[in-house]
Amino acid sequence: MNEPPGSPAFAIGAIEPSHRSRIAEILRSTENFRDEEVDVALEVFDAAFGDEDYVLVGAFLSRESGIRHRESMGPEAVPIPDARFPIPDLVGFAIYGPTMGTDRTYDLYWIAVDRSAQGTGCGSVLLSEVERRLEALHARMLVIETSSRSDYAATRTFYLRRGYVEAARIREFYARQDDRIILTKRLAGSPREGWGAVA
Ligand SMILES: CC(C)(COP(=O)(O)OP(=O)(O)OC[C@H]1O[C@@H](n2cnc3c(N)ncnc32)[C@H](O)[C@@H]1OP(=O)(O)O)[C@@H](O)C(=O)NCCC(=O)NCCS
Repeated sequence: MNEPPGSPAFAIGAIEPSHRSRIAEILRSTENFRDEEVDVALEVFDAAFGDEDYVLVGAFLSRESGIRHRESMGPEAVPIPDARFPIPDLVGFAIYGPTMGTDRTYDLYWIAVDRSAQGTGCGSVLLSEVERRLEALHARMLVIETSSRSDYAATRTFYLRRGYVEAARIREFYARQDDRIILTKRLAGSPREGWGAVA
């Protein structure tokens, strides 16, 4: 499918410890996460180096296209192809890992895209990459937890349109009128063998 004109292209790449401040910047740019949630995300980020239970994936803006930096352009920045403009390379990331005590179930711990790049396909590229890697590992299921708050409405739509279904909901888990929603997706790569297999 042809990309619409001006649509940025994203490349999947490795995240290094030196990306820590950029990760914090991305998390804050979303305005979805409280300070303590950003701190928890950074703790998970730190743990990911040297711990195979946390895997980091980065989405980088390809050099051919550009999203002007939101600090230069304001939060309403839109993707503008402009290779001359200084751009932050890393625009989104995901952290996932195996769920302890399960047969090939995985958790998506975090996914976030810089606000200036949201709605341009970056999150879809990241989630597809996570699913592709998990299917290669014959993972059975990916589990995502999110909030029922109205500021997560676009996020929930994002997951539902990508095949995730609400598997459970704990009313007022996070706070009053803020449910914990557990979304799951069965992955295509699961072989028949496994703990749960029946003849
Ligand atoms: C959720 C998120 C990772 C999706 O990434 P993204 O790059 O915006 O998503 P894409 O451009 O690939 O897909 C856009 C789709 O997601 C939804 N969406 C979510 N947030 C959006 C936003 N801010 N702007 C536009 N669309 C958004 C739309 O419904 C859109 O639907 P479509 O399939 O009809 O196009 C990203 O918006 C984000 O970081 N949100 C804030 C942090 C967050 O909620 N993280 C998840 C915590 S559980």
